[in-house]
Amino acid sequence: MFITFEGIEGTGKSTQIALLQEHLEALGRRVLVTCEPGGSRIGAELRRVLLSLDNRDLTPQAELFLYLADRAQHVAQVVRPALEAGAVVLCDRFADSTVAYQGFGRGMDIKLLHQLNAVAVGGLWPELTILLDLDPETGLARAVARNESEGKTNAEGRFEAESLAFHSCVRQGFLSLAASFPERISILDASGTPEAIAQDLRALVEARLHA
Ligand code: TYD
Repeated sequence: MFITFEGIEGTGKSTQIALLQEHLEALGRRVLVTCEPGGSRIGAELRRVLLSLDNRDLTPQAELFLYLADRAQHVAQVVRPALEAGAVVLCDRFADSTVAYQGFGRGMDIKLLHQLNAVAVGGLWPELTILLDLDPETGLARAVARNESEGKTNAEGRFEAESLAFHSCVRQGFLSLAASFPERISILDASGTPEAIAQDLRALVEARLHA
């Protein structure tokens, strides 16, 4: 089963992924946790290029193709083999992030992005996508605090440096995707406690596993 996690920065995706991994492993499931960008060996190189503040001159088009390249490599080398081997795959960001960030954030054509995503994923779409929804003021404050406490300064800050207005557009993008794909995308309010969110998440996933 392929589950992806989406949302703006600072919504607690990695915390929820770790809690769900623990829960599923305790139930005897094999779990692979991965992420985009950077889930494959080549993707790790692309991630560095994509997120470095030194690359502020990356054009929106070049940025798009790097995310798509990362995705194509990740699906072929990591996600598809793990699913074929019977694992549950939990992925921090996937194709919806491209529509939300490059489409709603940067203003690129949404329909075109859906088509390009289709090429990158080669028919492999998530069965369930968890959208952790949070207002951007709270999310960005959390993300900046996390980066500081982890000693990240220039290395991973290109998106945190974008304006609040940009992140509001991205959030609207995710909500609009959730409205377009209600069967696949479930929204969880990320302003609650991590434990309360984890409980709701477990209920959603178990319903799918037993469906
Ligand atoms: P990530 O490491 O998940 O950041 P965070 O932990 O702060 O959520 O993702 C890196 C950044 O890449 C994030 O700001 C969103 C952006 N992104 C896109 O713009 N398009 C994409 O297709 C993906 C996968 C990520």
